Amino acid sequence: MGVLSSSRTLMILCSFILVAFSSSYATGSKVTFINVLDYGAVGDGYIDDSQIYGTLKAPNDTSIWEGLDATIWLAFENVNGLTVSGSGTIDGQGSNWWAQSCRYNNSKDCTKWAPTEIKFISCQNSRLKDLHFINSPNTHILIQYCNMFWVSNLNIASPKTSPNTDGIHIDGSTGVFIDDSIIQSGDDCISIGDHTSNVQINNINCGPGHGVSIGSLGKGGSSAQVENIYVNNVNFSETTNGVRIKTWQGASGYARDITFRQINFNNVQYPIIIDQYYCDHQHPSSCTLYQCSWNDSRSDSTRCFMFDPRLRLCLAILADNLVDS
Ligand SMILES: *[C@@H]1O[C@H](CO)[C@@H](O)[C@H](O)[C@H]1NC(C)=O
Ligand SMILES: *[C@@H]1O[C@H](CO)[C@@H](O)[C@H](O)[C@H]1NC(C)=O
Ligand SMILES: *[C@@H]1O[C@H](CO)[C@@H](O)[C@H](O)[C@H]1NC(C)=O
Ligand SMILES: *[C@@H]1O[C@H](CO)[C@@H](O)[C@H](O)[C@H]1NC(C)=O
Repeated sequence: MGVLSSSRTLMILCSFILVAFSSSYATGSKVTFINVLDYGAVGDGYIDDSQIYGTLKAPNDTSIWEGLDATIWLAFENVNGLTVSGSGTIDGQGSNWWAQSCRYNNSKDCTKWAPTEIKFISCQNSRLKDLHFINSPNTHILIQYCNMFWVSNLNIASPKTSPNTDGIHIDGSTGVFIDDSIIQSGDDCISIGDHTSNVQINNINCGPGHGVSIGSLGKGGSSAQVENIYVNNVNFSETTNGVRIKTWQGASGYARDITFRQINFNNVQYPIIIDQYYCDHQHPSSCTLYQCSWNDSRSDSTRCFMFDPRLRLCLAILADNLVDS
């Protein structure tokens, strides 16, 4: 395997974050810190200590997070040249989180936050590959404030009824490449948030799930900046949506140079949605779009909503070779 340029940083992160909530060590006292050096890691700057084999399971008991940041399980922050790989499985054991989520059941004790399986924050020139991610309590993989990040050959799977289980969410990042992956989830297979540019997505099988989405952008009237997004060869199967762009009313900024090519829809409820009045509630149904074009054989089920001229969305959306089977 490759040389890790920052093994020492990684070692430290591993010791204090990566394994901190691993269930086998989190019995009795709430969190047990273990040192990966005691488990065969070397950290000499040459040996790759970042591979995961077997199954890494999150605690099943959500109360372990009481008093802790409930959005985090595994996280890497500020690492340059990181590669996380291996043939292993990361199991978030999300079922207890899903049962108490406010998303589909707004009861008194429901919880708004649940842990993301793995977060990469402010990482540069890094890679994530070959692993399996299952049953995440929330988003499976978050790539946030990263610059040059390659994702490949992943297998992500959570039930279609699981709340908020995005496959991969990208936010505030530039240069993200996602290839050759299978994503089954209860939310977006891939979602792209504000302040993101230069994203290439190739050869993805998505479904079940909510499709590939850009947004929601510009919440609270903020300025959105999303550009140069290229999505190629994606098969959507049994998804609620295919490709979707959603913006909040009153947003400013732009979402431009967005291309979807070689997209196959197989039993997709809404193949293309451009929704400029996103609020999770009732939508007004008038629609104006400009400088957008696509070939969608099921344009009758393409939904789009109120066009808000303050957000210069659609400045170059090209979608071709969309096939509905
Ligand atoms: C985790 O909790 C769920 C729901 O309470 C239960 O069905 C499952 O058996 C538990 N898994 C383990 C490994 O304890
Ligand atoms: C909603 O959550 C409450 C409390 O967790 C639970 O008692 C109730 O059965 C849930 N309702 C549904 C429809 O899942
Ligand atoms: C999508 O489906 C088409 C037709 O079945 C197939 O040729 C293509 O390889 C599939 N793409 C992926 C990413 O699996
Ligand atoms: C759509 O199909 C037509 C004819 O099949 C083609 O000329 C055009 O380039 C395609 N793409 C778009 C975005 O219209």
